[in-house]
Amino acid sequence: MQPSIQKTIDFVKKTLANAEAGHDWFHIERVYKTAQNINQKENGDDLVVAYAALLHDIADPKFNDGDEKIGPNIAAAFLKSIEVDQSIIDHVILIIENMSFKNSFDQNSFTSREMQIVQDADRLDAIGAIGIARAFTYGGFKNRVLYDPEIKPEQHLSKETYKNTTAPTINHFYEKLLLLKDMMNTNAGKDIAEERHQFMLLYLKHFFNEWEGN
Ligand code: ADP
Ligand code: NI
Repeated sequence: MQPSIQKTIDFVKKTLANAEAGHDWFHIERVYKTAQNINQKENGDDLVVAYAALLHDIADPKFNDGDEKIGPNIAAAFLKSIEVDQSIIDHVILIIENMSFKNSFDQNSFTSREMQIVQDADRLDAIGAIGIARAFTYGGFKNRVLYDPEIKPEQHLSKETYKNTTAPTINHFYEKLLLLKDMMNTNAGKDIAEERHQFMLLYLKHFFNEWEGN
């Protein structure tokens, strides 16, 4: 392993030592592994993919008064401190600034192969068995009910309504998780998403059966 990657891993682990479960070091490690897995087929730049995957959640705006600049700033300062080339830093920062689901509501002008790979890897961690676990962890943290048949899922057309919803956690499946399969950028990402998507559909089928006492 490149020494600069090891340094980045050490920095991220230390920085996220007290992070909540949805965005802890293990989320980063899964995204990093999945991004490397996808990149074996997609042939992006290994270093850009690695830095972007490792640093993409270094400071969550949700826990920083909504400030979306803190994360990219911390990532850029760290990469500079270990003397990464400025052109690589600039690319990694553009990826981090543009890849999150809530930012997909904005008109994004930036894309690159590496951006597509890391974005796919991050989205894949929101679906399937892990995605289900993360959704209920988030819902528990926010004190949301599991499900309420009276509250129908909404289609969020803006970043604000998506961020401010207080709907039951099951609604999140219809508002985000089940949409991600068709938002994959890479073919390798699509293949993995398909399997995880089917698993969520099966999960929901059981959930509603059990809800009815069956
Ligand atoms: P992103 O960083 O892509 O914008 P978030 O930080 O909003 O994503 O989401 C982090 C994790 O929490 C994901 O697994 C996501 O599905 C989950 N999550 C986000 N919003 C909700 C919600 N309203 N209900 C349940 N889970 C949620
Ligand atoms: Ni993430």
